[in-house]
Amino acid sequence: MIFRQLFDAESSTFTYLIGCERTRAAAIVDPVREQIDRDLALVRELGLALTNTVETHVHADHVTAAGEIRRRTGARTLVSRADGPACADEGLAEGDVVSVGDVTLRTLATPGHTAGCLSFVVGQGGTSEDRVLTGDALLVRGCGRTDFQGGDSGKLWGSVTSKLFALGDAMLVFPAHDYRGLNMTTIGEERRWNPRLGGEATRETFVALMAALHLPPPKKIDEAVPANRACGDDGAADPRRPGPPVQG
Ligand SMILES: [Fe+2]
Repeated sequence: MIFRQLFDAESSTFTYLIGCERTRAAAIVDPVREQIDRDLALVRELGLALTNTVETHVHADHVTAAGEIRRRTGARTLVSRADGPACADEGLAEGDVVSVGDVTLRTLATPGHTAGCLSFVVGQGGTSEDRVLTGDALLVRGCGRTDFQGGDSGKLWGSVTSKLFALGDAMLVFPAHDYRGLNMTTIGEERRWNPRLGGEATRETFVALMAALHLPPPKKIDEAVPANRACGDDGAADPRRPGPPVQG
């Protein structure tokens, strides 16, 4: 498996490039519009062909590169079916498996940060799953906020403690953001040390803590959410789009 963690410093977003050694197919997860030239250069230099862009959720803090990558490479855009924008080529839900050559991304529905948040368990050939992309559901010693876009702290508690923690302590965790330079973690570390969701935390302490955060809105929310509902485009129909839009 080819696995690269890429970083956008302005939004503190991690993008993941995941490729198959044998077929050279690749997917890019949560690409950032400002980093498209850097990311596509890396794809080219590694001899990969992008087949899919994948979003963990509709982001409020940056604009996705998915639409522009589709135009430049033909890569299909995959998003959550639960709140999937009509611009996408395919909607994903719990249990769906995205195949990237011999590499698989198994979809977990992990709502709570937003109503449509997805996580992806990554493995080789459907076995040997050793890492999970958690989007904003589970961050290193933190989690995404739950105060807009269908956010629900009770649901996030359930998503993290009953789905992500169930993946086992050895599972590597690759989040969609970090603000302190901690780029990855494990389920075991978060079960023990996550100050919101791990250790002695309960559903009640978590819900109370999230309700008391009173965070300012993300700087880009007014631009990013509408743009991301259009796959990062201005919302105009793209005649070169290879697949049919998601229904609903
Ligand atoms: Fe987010």
